[in-house]
Amino acid sequence: MDNMEDKKSHYYSKFPDVDVKIHTIAESLRRHLYIFKTITGVFSFNKIDLGTKVFIENMHIPKEASVLLDLGCGYGPIGIVLGYESPQSSVHLIDINKRAIWCAKQNIKLNLPDQTKDVIALSGNYFKPIKSRNLKFDGIYMNPPLRQGRKNFLDLFYRIQNYLKKNGSFQFVIRKKMGAPYISKYLAETFPNERVEILCKRSGYWVFKCFH
Ligand SMILES: C[S@@+](CC[C@H](N)C(=O)[O-])C[C@H]1O[C@@H](n2cnc3c(N)ncnc32)[C@H](O)[C@@H]1O
Repeated sequence: MDNMEDKKSHYYSKFPDVDVKIHTIAESLRRHLYIFKTITGVFSFNKIDLGTKVFIENMHIPKEASVLLDLGCGYGPIGIVLGYESPQSSVHLIDINKRAIWCAKQNIKLNLPDQTKDVIALSGNYFKPIKSRNLKFDGIYMNPPLRQGRKNFLDLFYRIQNYLKKNGSFQFVIRKKMGAPYISKYLAETFPNERVEILCKRSGYWVFKCFH
């Protein structure tokens, strides 16, 4: 049993109750080398998650200036790649875990030193940190916390619609074993008016893009 389970603390706890150890990850993503500082108590703190990697390599990134959101950002790999690949865009990163946000802030400074005004990490419960600002996004990106249950993720779909601009997209990755085929069927049945594409199926992960 690892320390997190032992103390009933999770990577999605607001204040993870595990000792702090700092790690450094070096990873080449979309042919660019990134350095990520991570700490214990944060999702996949010792190496970049395989699902995250498959997602980053295959997600669609708008070429034109856009407003983008990395929802449940952890230490920030998805949002930071969005910021690097789309430097004219503004990117928000949100996570409930305060340690994750601490890391994401360090990683923005480390990897995108000239974009610290346009790539912003905020802590809080999903859309709460931006609620008062009436923001709508061209793209919302997510490697969802399915350990909290599939229902939580499916419920989030209804809320995400309110934060997407017309023609905006919601892109996410799901492990096949964690129910990607079920989610694909669920989306087709529940949102018949939305276009849902599977951008890739690789290494046991499916990457989805849903258009609003
Ligand atoms: C599967 S991890 C992905 C982390 C990161 N995007 C990555 O790919 O490495 C899901 C993230 O969602 C965050 N999370 C869970 N529930 C949340 C909530 N209610 N509001 C904001 N973030 C949440 C967790 O803390 C965790 O960092």
